[in-house]
Amino acid sequence: MSQKAAKKTERDERVARITEGMRSVLLYVLGLSGVINILALTGAFYMMQIYDRALLSGSIPTLAMISLLAFGLFVFQGALDVLRSQILQRVGARFDHRVAPDVHMMTIEMPRYGFSIGESVERGRMVDTLRGFFGGPGLVAILDLPWMPIFIAFVFILHPYLGALTIAGAGVLALLTILTEFLTRRSNADISRAAAARSSVAEANARNADVIRAMGFSGKAVKLFRDANEEHLRLEAGSGDITRTFGAISKVLRMMLQSAVLGLGAYLTIMGEMTAGAIIAASVASARALAPIDAAIGNWKNIIMSKNAYSKIKETIAAMPSDPKPMSLPDPKNEFSADNVTVVAPSTGQVILADVSIRLEAGQALGLIGPSGGGKTSLMRALAGVWPVLRGHVRLDRADLSQWSEESIARCFGYLPQDYTLFDTSIARNIARLDDPDPEKVIAAAKTAGVHDLIVGMPDGYETQLGANGVSLSGGQRQRIALARALYGDPFVVLMDEPNSNLDQQGEAAVSEAIRAVRERGGIVIVVAHRPSALENVDLIGIVQDGSLVRLGSKSDIMKPKSVGPTAPEQDVSQPGKVQEAVS
Ligand SMILES: Nc1ncnc2c1ncn2[C@@H]1O[C@H](COP(=O)(O)OP(=O)(O)OP(=O)(O)O)[C@@H](O)[C@H]1O
Ligand SMILES: [Mg+2]
Repeated sequence: MSQKAAKKTERDERVARITEGMRSVLLYVLGLSGVINILALTGAFYMMQIYDRALLSGSIPTLAMISLLAFGLFVFQGALDVLRSQILQRVGARFDHRVAPDVHMMTIEMPRYGFSIGESVERGRMVDTLRGFFGGPGLVAILDLPWMPIFIAFVFILHPYLGALTIAGAGVLALLTILTEFLTRRSNADISRAAAARSSVAEANARNADVIRAMGFSGKAVKLFRDANEEHLRLEAGSGDITRTFGAISKVLRMMLQSAVLGLGAYLTIMGEMTAGAIIAASVASARALAPIDAAIGNWKNIIMSKNAYSKIKETIAAMPSDPKPMSLPDPKNEFSADNVTVVAPSTGQVILADVSIRLEAGQALGLIGPSGGGKTSLMRALAGVWPVLRGHVRLDRADLSQWSEESIARCFGYLPQDYTLFDTSIARNIARLDDPDPEKVIAAAKTAGVHDLIVGMPDGYETQLGANGVSLSGGQRQRIALARALYGDPFVVLMDEPNSNLDQQGEAAVSEAIRAVRERGGIVIVVAHRPSALENVDLIGIVQDGSLVRLGSKSDIMKPKSVGPTAPEQDVSQPGKVQEAVS
């Protein structure tokens, strides 16, 4: 209970840190906006002075003095305006600087919890939206809003009727704002969803470029994108129409109000209750009073999108797995186990693996076999800590994975997934897991993976750049580099999901060699394989079928052929039926 409470406060703290120090800056900018708004009365005062003083007295020196003063005040206002926008710009940049890495961290985490890649990328864009908001007119409008009373009071002083008219106008415009919000609220949420869907399609199309080109369905792929894009455009147009219509109405209303103020002012002047200068001053001031509301309506979509982005970012930061900073444990040396592990698919919540228990001691290697779709990859993901475990525990030396710090995990695990990709950087950095490569360790890992000769044979050797602007490697070459990455730094547990799927005989021999090497140094290997050649050096075999570990035992027990003679090398071990048949 207290632990839960502690977690909550830690989250709150993390969320609070997003805006740390920004409140005081924004309060300062709000104050600055007050000064700017007071200075904005210059125009109104200037009018009054011209009509009621300069024109009446006919004195040129008076006119010059007044004009000079007004000019000075305008320049001062302009300077403060520039200062304000520069401060806001910097607040936005600081905000971005502070949250972008954490939000990006979550874009790495989110797919593990069943979010689409499009959705998680969209999350990253929200930081851009907010940074733009800080530098844009929407925030300025919000900062100006609280100072509206200055202008209304000014008009009131000129004449209460004019003040009342301005307040009525402000009321109507405020009503329009509320109506805009009401009408666009739902569609704004839909727009974000549609934007995420569109990113997903774009991303998938780019990833499938080869397939699309080779089988000539780029038209269909583009159509898929067009549909997603059109949905997004349609929603955006809908909400944009509302915002623009209300923006236009508010502009016309403002003009009408300004004329009404002039008309009423003229009437009051005729009745001898006001001076002519006051008419113009009232008109200027009432227009200025309503400008922030007008700007708020005009930028409503942006304001709401930024507000949503902010709450999503807050949500994202709050959802970040709290960093428990566990007490550091000595690196594991003895065993790796799964106790009654049940795994659900993050996206669907469907149980994929139930109640799997495995216990491996240092120096052991387990080969997992079983039919396609049986759950081998899912088990590997759970063992590697990629997918959260619903029930049960994955343990290193009897301590649950959650008790190990990220640094320990980094040292303890080597993982070669079934769908691996490499990073667009040098081969050495890829093997060193993006760290500054330690040449000795990189070469050792490459040699164990049997890829050293191949790498040094390339023109740039270990410094060869991979990716869009670099070298393209063959499937087998990439797989072996991914294998070297898994072996880098001699991790205690090495998990390999079909490490030989792209390899020739020589490559398969390298995998077997790697398994032997890991066992010899006291490590543990779990390897998924469809072909027995990768299982040469394992001592245990497990059969994963229909989401459970149906058998686990020594290789000699499970793979024992029915008839005498060794297992034929071309036998497909992925069909446990065959194996069972062989065993019985
Ligand atoms: N991300 C996912 N979301 C939902 N279901 C999934 C996900 N990944 C896998 N599954 C489901 O889990 C089951 C097991 O899949 P898994 O990839 O673990 O099989 P596998 O034994 O590795 O198969 P193969 O030998 O073809 O690699 C399948 O029914 C699959 O549909
Ligand atoms: Mg698999």
